[in-house]
Amino acid sequence: MTRYETILTETKNRVGLITLNRPKALNALNLRLMGEVTAAAADFDRDPEIGCLVITGSERAFAAGADIKEMQPNDYMDVYLSDWFAAWDRLGQIRKPTVAAVSGYALGGGCELAMLCDIVLAADTAVFGQPEIKLGVIPGIGGSQRLTRAVGKAKAMEMCLTGRTMDAEEAERAGLVSRVVPAADLLGEALAVAETVAGMSTPIAMMAKESVNRAFETTLAEGVRFERRLFHATFATADQKEGMAAFTEKRAATFVNR
Ligand code: CAA
Repeated sequence: MTRYETILTETKNRVGLITLNRPKALNALNLRLMGEVTAAAADFDRDPEIGCLVITGSERAFAAGADIKEMQPNDYMDVYLSDWFAAWDRLGQIRKPTVAAVSGYALGGGCELAMLCDIVLAADTAVFGQPEIKLGVIPGIGGSQRLTRAVGKAKAMEMCLTGRTMDAEEAERAGLVSRVVPAADLLGEALAVAETVAGMSTPIAMMAKESVNRAFETTLAEGVRFERRLFHATFATADQKEGMAAFTEKRAATFVNR
């Protein structure tokens, strides 16, 4: 197993868990952590023994944003030439389903990291926000785009322009998170959801993810056409044969991920 400095990784029941681990900096996302999270996620994505990923932080902070101290000394050409934060796009390209388990602060890049995941589960302590404007910058890992798609223009504008935060209850009402659970249950619930997904056929789960994500990239007619082609493709898999045979034979399906 690869050794990381800023994250912990483990695997269980076909789930790959990535835990952000910079507790003294409230899991601020520095470049090292960006490299490690994206590398670990890409490893899990390639691993045939993994069907779903979970990304979590600590009880106090999922992540309090990009590392302000690391960003501070840079000028325009530093961040432009190095395309600062572009590597986070690799997380959006992970093809297996990802679950964010968010407790405490999910601010700036932390909120953006959660939104890069497919399912967001929140502890009742979670706090979401895009407070970059208070630092004289704007979101840089997709926040202005994904938050707007998740919660709509009015709330996204207010959050990006004033820096006000949302608690877990409001985030659920607004559609930013799928479910709120007591903080003590968060990781257990997230792992249970991930294990459920990982227990499905992995190629089919990957197609379902790709199809839902297409809704954010294209017109309705194109999206429906894309979905239909993938639906047709599911019939080329052994798992479609197994899933439907298991239903008619009144037994649980045993997927082979082929
Ligand atoms: N970057 C670097 N260090 C951070 C950090 C960040 N984003 N957030 C917290 N820390 C550090 C603090 O500097 C502090 O370190 P020291 O003990 O060495 O001083 C430590 O974590 C604990 O933080 P606080 O003492 O501030 O803890 P608190 O409980 O009083 O406050 C907080 C918690 C409200 C989250 C506060 O830390 C805070 O406002 N953090 C910054 C939030 C923020 O602005 N995030 C957006 C960053 S910009 C961004 O993310 C750009 C983008 O789009 C990618």
